[in-house]
Amino acid sequence: MEQYVIKGGNPLVGEVEIGGAKNAALAILAASIMADETITIDNLPNVRDINVLLGAIEGIGAIVERTDAHTVKINGSTISGMSVDYEYIKKIRASYYLLGALLGKYKKAEVALPGGCDIGSRPIDLHLKGFRALGARVDIQHGLITAEADHLKGTHIYLDKVSVGATINIMMAAAMAEGKTIIENAAKEPHVVDVANFLNSMGAGIRGAGTDVIRIVGVEKLHKTEYSIIPDQIEAGTFMFAAAATRGDVTVKNVIPKHLEATTAKLLEVGCEVEEFDDAVRVVCAKPMHHTQVTTLPYPGFPTDMQPQMAVILGIADGTSTVTESIFENRFKYVDELTRMGANIKVESNIAIITGVEKYTGARVSAPDLRAGAALVIAGLAAEGITIVDDIYYIERGYENFEEKLASLGAQIEKVSSEKEIQKFTLKVS
Ligand code: UD1
Repeated sequence: MEQYVIKGGNPLVGEVEIGGAKNAALAILAASIMADETITIDNLPNVRDINVLLGAIEGIGAIVERTDAHTVKINGSTISGMSVDYEYIKKIRASYYLLGALLGKYKKAEVALPGGCDIGSRPIDLHLKGFRALGARVDIQHGLITAEADHLKGTHIYLDKVSVGATINIMMAAAMAEGKTIIENAAKEPHVVDVANFLNSMGAGIRGAGTDVIRIVGVEKLHKTEYSIIPDQIEAGTFMFAAAATRGDVTVKNVIPKHLEATTAKLLEVGCEVEEFDDAVRVVCAKPMHHTQVTTLPYPGFPTDMQPQMAVILGIADGTSTVTESIFENRFKYVDELTRMGANIKVESNIAIITGVEKYTGARVSAPDLRAGAALVIAGLAAEGITIVDDIYYIERGYENFEEKLASLGAQIEKVSSEKEIQKFTLKVS
């Protein structure tokens, strides 16, 4: 088991380059099996979730050729099975995108039902409602979802809740249905737009992605394309908040500043300076930070995937702040860990009430999930003394070279795998 060991207190200073968006990449990789020609995808983040999904894609018979760490070629013409194993789905929920992709292309798919997750109950009823509306017979038995249709027929679908996953999954199936589909109350996240742009570059007829009504005219075939994935707004936001927590000065490069507006707005509210360039943002946070209120909402609201990082900032800001989590009900599992580092946080239902403390103090903590894990690293960077973050497996699902990027900004952080290495690091930095 590997850990991060961190000696806090160094302001982060310098420039950091952001990779491709993990959540866009997961859907785009799944969608790429929908053509029988070779698809080239670039700006792929080299993180664990992506590699697991590529394994699942290979598992159903597609040809997957990783030409370098950030580029992959996929050819779906050799697909021999429509069944995605539980081994993959249990490691990464987003393998369920293969349901929409296989159903669209072959009118048949079989994917294990995703199990319970670490941030709350995550049903997929809306995905299935969409497939049924398109004319598929959907059945759940023995832990497997089976979706099958003689023909998929375009239709009008209203999503009762804004869901990124359901919007994308239905959009993929509808891209190869007969006729016109309208998805109302669709998610507007940048990665929904990226997946639509990708499918359109393969010949799909999708309009309106990025608004709450998506219109799709189905096509019979999709063709080859070369596509570059958008930058990861959550990785970018994480580095912006790490700069703030350590009172640093960091330029976050290769981003789309428009996608970061909610994150930027909160940094300005707490008193940091944010300068926007064409494809970069600079965060300077020299003065003490102030309290504020945050509520997570679907895009363009404040992202739930930035909620733990935000709480870490507010934990060392002046006064009392509130963080309301409105998307997932169990996303405060990091609070007990942060409390061990000296935070003063009370959780009542879906609201965390945070009274700022002067500083965090280093402690041994465990990453409860991907984003909360990154948030605990930020706390460690800001803390006095040594912090050890266990279970960094979660963090590596979504951050590429996290410790190397932080170290290049002046952080004292190392990835270690034994108590001996922890001691060595502690001696070195003391
Ligand atoms: C995606 C992101 C995740 C992010 C989340 C919200 C990926 C791989 N993951 O997750 O990082 O935190 O969006 O921005 O892109 N819901 C239902 N029924 C459904 C589907 C969803 O009730 O069929 C509910 C969920 O429980 C949740 C809300 O809708 O309360 C939003 O979930 P959704 O947008 O679907 O999240 P994911 O796509 O799973």
